[in-house]
Amino acid sequence: MTTSRLLKGSLQRSYDPEIDIDWSAPLVEDRFFAPPQASALYGSRLWDSLTREQQIEVTRCEVANLLNFGIWVETAFMVFLARNSLNWTYASDRMRYTLTELGDETRHSTMFSMALEKIDRGQFRFRLPERAIVRGMLTHCPEALSFVAVLFVEEIFDALQREGARDETIQPLTRMVYKIHVTEEARHMSFARQELGKIIPTLNWFQRQFMAMGVAVGIRFIERCWLMPQVYARAGLDGREAARAARRNPVRRRYYQQKIDKFVPFYRELGLITPLSTLVWKLFGYTPGGSRAA
Ligand SMILES: [Fe+2]
Ligand SMILES: [Fe+2]
Repeated sequence: MTTSRLLKGSLQRSYDPEIDIDWSAPLVEDRFFAPPQASALYGSRLWDSLTREQQIEVTRCEVANLLNFGIWVETAFMVFLARNSLNWTYASDRMRYTLTELGDETRHSTMFSMALEKIDRGQFRFRLPERAIVRGMLTHCPEALSFVAVLFVEEIFDALQREGARDETIQPLTRMVYKIHVTEEARHMSFARQELGKIIPTLNWFQRQFMAMGVAVGIRFIERCWLMPQVYARAGLDGREAARAARRNPVRRRYYQQKIDKFVPFYRELGLITPLSTLVWKLFGYTPGGSRAA
């Protein structure tokens, strides 16, 4: 899709979460906040030992953390986008689309913030190494790496949220938040793919290796942000034990691998899956575009 078509799509199909979500509606009793299979504990012995009420509470805290993560990374992405675009041709569809995307992300993070307040769990603080990575990238981040990072997070968010958006049994609030986000992010992903398709072929071998490492580290970064003891402690469990169970849960790993398998072929096409980065993927327990590492 060309950038001008993405712009038209934004005009025709954008949401205003302040209006499109009924913020005054109470949460619905006895509903999961996300599809249970999306919980990092789903399928573990710990999950099976919990009551339905406790399982619901786990999904509530996990969704709160997902929103929390969403605000954090989207705000960082806005900085990357705004900074990159300062060097572009201002009278161009590329510039106008970037400004549109900044507007979308502002609305998304506002929506996440309102949902976070409504869900009333968290805010959680991310670990020091991840905060240091984001801080470093906010200081200096090459254009290619910023699009790689933006697209990788958008892809994995899309895979998870698409499933939630279709599930009529979960909290209507989460479902609507996911639905709005999935629709608008589809355009952002097209734009990032287009940009990467242009930028990556201009990189030299070393730069490409570096980007490939960035992709491989991305999955670990997300895992560490999503599987934090404080999230499970907030759900009333032994935080450390639950986070460990989530990390080691083979059902969760398979679930994440399935999501990854859907979008990794694009990175392979771009040359961002290299023999060296494949080793890193495997070290983290995943395979880039195949079944889970043994
Ligand atoms: Fe977004
Ligand atoms: Fe986005």
